[in-house]
Amino acid sequence: MSGRNSFMIVANRLPVDRTVEPDGTASWRRSPGGLVTAIAPVMQRRHGAWLGWHGAADERLEPFDQDGMSLVPVPLSAREVELYYEGFSNATLWPLYHDVVATPVFERDMWDAYTTVNQRFAEAAAEVAEEGAVVWVQDYQLQLVPAMLRKLRPDLRIGFFLHIPFPPVELFWRLPWRKELVEGLLGADLVGFQLPGGAANFRRLCRRLLGLPYKGNEIFLDDRIVTTQAFPISVDFGELDTMVRQEHIMTRAKEIRAELGDPEHVLLGVDRLDYTKGIGLRLEAFGELLKEGRLQPNEAVFVQIATPSRERVDEYRRLRDDIELQVGRINGEHAMLGLQPIQYFHQSYGREELAALYLASDVMVVTPLRDGMNLVAKEYVACHHDLRGALVLSEFAGAADELRQSYLVNPYDVEDVKRQMMTAMRATPHELARRMRTMRRRVATYDVDRWAGEFLNALETPALPSSTPHNASWRSD
Ligand code: ADP
Ligand code: F6P
Repeated sequence: MSGRNSFMIVANRLPVDRTVEPDGTASWRRSPGGLVTAIAPVMQRRHGAWLGWHGAADERLEPFDQDGMSLVPVPLSAREVELYYEGFSNATLWPLYHDVVATPVFERDMWDAYTTVNQRFAEAAAEVAEEGAVVWVQDYQLQLVPAMLRKLRPDLRIGFFLHIPFPPVELFWRLPWRKELVEGLLGADLVGFQLPGGAANFRRLCRRLLGLPYKGNEIFLDDRIVTTQAFPISVDFGELDTMVRQEHIMTRAKEIRAELGDPEHVLLGVDRLDYTKGIGLRLEAFGELLKEGRLQPNEAVFVQIATPSRERVDEYRRLRDDIELQVGRINGEHAMLGLQPIQYFHQSYGREELAALYLASDVMVVTPLRDGMNLVAKEYVACHHDLRGALVLSEFAGAADELRQSYLVNPYDVEDVKRQMMTAMRATPHELARRMRTMRRRVATYDVDRWAGEFLNALETPALPSSTPHNASWRSD
């Protein structure tokens, strides 16, 4: 064993993604999604290694350094990408954990690939971890890694954080491999969730499925204790706040408004193109406001940025077609010469351009049907030092627990979404400032450093075996 690192992140993806063009030219770009947004600044400030897949199939790469991080690529074959990543991770677990908003696929060969790939990640981590190292495993793609890694390296301190919701027992119960997954997670010393509800779901599941007693946050195994706790993830508030105060970002924000025709209201959506994000329903709400004459086409522009995501999974293909049809229909009905009410972009952007877009917009519309946290909502708040801007936010996003001064909506109720979008657009500057100030205070205090610091502190402080109670809960809840 070549032990080398005292701190390690193990995640499905590395922070950079290698794309290979048909002519063979390869390039690197930032990986999509909230996990990378949160973990990258943490890793840049701590020494350690990040193990993960580099985004291309059938390619073995040597470890390398990038942006102050040591990256260790874990290879996947094309077949594993299909069965482990697109299959079990994103066609089985993703819909199951997001309240079954799409139908999960249960296929044995997908499960087999998930097991094989998790074992590979565990072996790769075991290989490069120093004696007694802290290893922090991330997200639903790697839920078997904690137990596999513990078997290989019982000396390690192992943490796991789930970035997406953990479902209620009744939904999880459908999974043919439910016992194996729970046992996989219990290999960790600390299992972290976005919200207290997710942690409670997990503890109840352990009791119902494995008969394990728990008390407070602690689950009692025969020989050790597993701590379960909520750690709401966040953004690098300081970095975004500094970025948007720069002259060229403020100028760019003004340019964006001018390019959009200087409408009275700029509404904005920024999401991976994912069926959990409720993109279609917010466009429907906007289209109805235009149709009913409550908004004039020259009064408001809706900018929807939809980052390409999981493009080979059937549900994602269908979603793209549906959204693009819907944008075409609404624009067809309401456009005027030189003026399209919905501006739709199926592209990725740099951090600065995204920050300028946040700053340029009056209303940020975040309407997921279910979301672990939603960092876009927090980024929007972090970018509005001007105290302008309103956030319309789904009650089903984890961020709604903290951002209570947003305009909260039930995304299943289109009339509610319309009403809150209108209220946000008509709010006085004083009212907007009052709400934004409180939300900014929250995001500034609970930023990504605090999230990582609290998780790692809890991980490095072992629960004492002597605290095992005689009366641990056996409630049949
Ligand atoms: P998820 O992790 O499900 O994708 P989050 O809202 O938590 O959702 O995180 C999304 C992250 O991806 C945010 O940091 C956001 O800034 C970034 N992002 C989303 N769309 C784009 C885009 N088109 N270009 C660049 N970054 C994007
Ligand atoms: O938790 C959200 C998440 O699934 C991350 O695990 C992931 O890195 C991100 O969204 C983007 O998804 P993908 O890696 O499938 O492109």
